[in-house]
Amino acid sequence: MKRIFLFGGSAILVLVVVAAVVMSLFNLSALPEPGRAEIWLATRGKHFLVHRASHGPLPAEPTDRASSIQEGNTLFGTECSECHGNSGRKPTDSGRWMYPRAADLTAPEVQRYSDRELFWVVKNGIRLSGMPAFGRVESDEHIWNLVHYVRTLPSQEAPH
Ligand code: HEC
Repeated sequence: MKRIFLFGGSAILVLVVVAAVVMSLFNLSALPEPGRAEIWLATRGKHFLVHRASHGPLPAEPTDRASSIQEGNTLFGTECSECHGNSGRKPTDSGRWMYPRAADLTAPEVQRYSDRELFWVVKNGIRLSGMPAFGRVESDEHIWNLVHYVRTLPSQEAPH
């Protein structure tokens, strides 16, 4: 009994020391660029989790694609550009210096998401990042409009 207690006690001590070392190494600043290994791991993990979470019934898409894109453009200006920038590809100062950084929405890692996954991201946001959930502020139809608009970003002219 006493031995078990002693073992338990030293295991806790080891954990406390490890936690203290990890915390002393952890940099709370959002300034340093994330390392390549961190970006790779975070991106893979995120895509896996989004893929897994986005199964299930999906609300119907607006059928008129052209007007959906047009409305998405207006919504993007009021709700997304404050972080992702007007073009979606060049984050604003606040988007750029968040950690993780606001995504370049024209990047292959973002465009590789299926429509269903993009819908999920905009509706649910990304936990532990600056990406907000729009599911309580926007209708499903508006979220579809945003998804359709995000698809048009790569073909738009790059900002100067
Ligand atoms: C307050 C800042 C902020 C606003 C506003 C914002 N985003 Fe984001 N967004 C982020 C950040 C930060 C990320 C990166 C999250 C990550 O890397 O985990 C992101 C990521 C994304 C992604 C890609 C997901 C990924 O894998 O990185 C999409 C798509 C996206 N945003 C779309 C939108 C749309 C559409 C809007 C407007 C309806 C919007 N965002 C508004 C900060 C924001």
